[in-house]
Amino acid sequence: MTPHISAKIGDIAETVLMPGDPYRAKWAAETFLDKPKLVNEVRGMFGFTGDYKGNRVTIHGSGMGMPSLSIYANELIATYGAKTLIRIGSCGAMQTSVNLRDVIIAMTATTLSTPSRGIMRELNFAPCADYSLLEAAVASARAKGTPTHVGGIYSSDVFYDERPDLTEQMTRHGILGVEMEAAELYTLAARHGCRALAVLTVSDHLLTGDALPSEDRERSFGDMVEIALEAAFA
Ligand code: ADE
Repeated sequence: MTPHISAKIGDIAETVLMPGDPYRAKWAAETFLDKPKLVNEVRGMFGFTGDYKGNRVTIHGSGMGMPSLSIYANELIATYGAKTLIRIGSCGAMQTSVNLRDVIIAMTATTLSTPSRGIMRELNFAPCADYSLLEAAVASARAKGTPTHVGGIYSSDVFYDERPDLTEQMTRHGILGVEMEAAELYTLAARHGCRALAVLTVSDHLLTGDALPSEDRERSFGDMVEIALEAAFA
């Protein structure tokens, strides 16, 4: 047990999918896993463990933002022995070539700062995805026919961003989309010898102001969950 996870040792699988939203963790577990079992609900942050095609997997919420993700990822790795951590979540598009509902698979995550900034000091560490997971996720997305983009994303500390000049620079430098967790997940995975990836569904568009209607979200998010599950056990 940890301060934020009440699961017993052994209740968490080595492979963990991490959506930001605990209710999305519940939905994904009940939709895609056999025999999903609730293993954590401290602070309403649901974690479920079940089987995907005979492989044991946990789907556990991360909360929003890197400080929250850092708490859960640290505890999942250090106490429960998680080895493969895949973020599944939404992002805002930053390129005209990226459309709502498209999937973005993040090779790298640019940031202004992460909770790891304190130990990196002057070093601009480049958080990057595990290549084997990345390759498997791209193959799975292609096989499903899901419109998919692979490249750099931006992990922001703010949803309500007041720096249009920064967005402009990132668009200019090819950043595909913005979310709020992947850079710290990649950094923690690097530190602890784990594999990490972020598979994201585009829910809104920073250049057009468009956003997915809520009734559309479930179906598009389902593709992302399946891509992540297939990549984890490829
Ligand atoms: N997640 C989904 N859309 C986002 C946005 N526009 N900014 C940050 N995180 C997001």
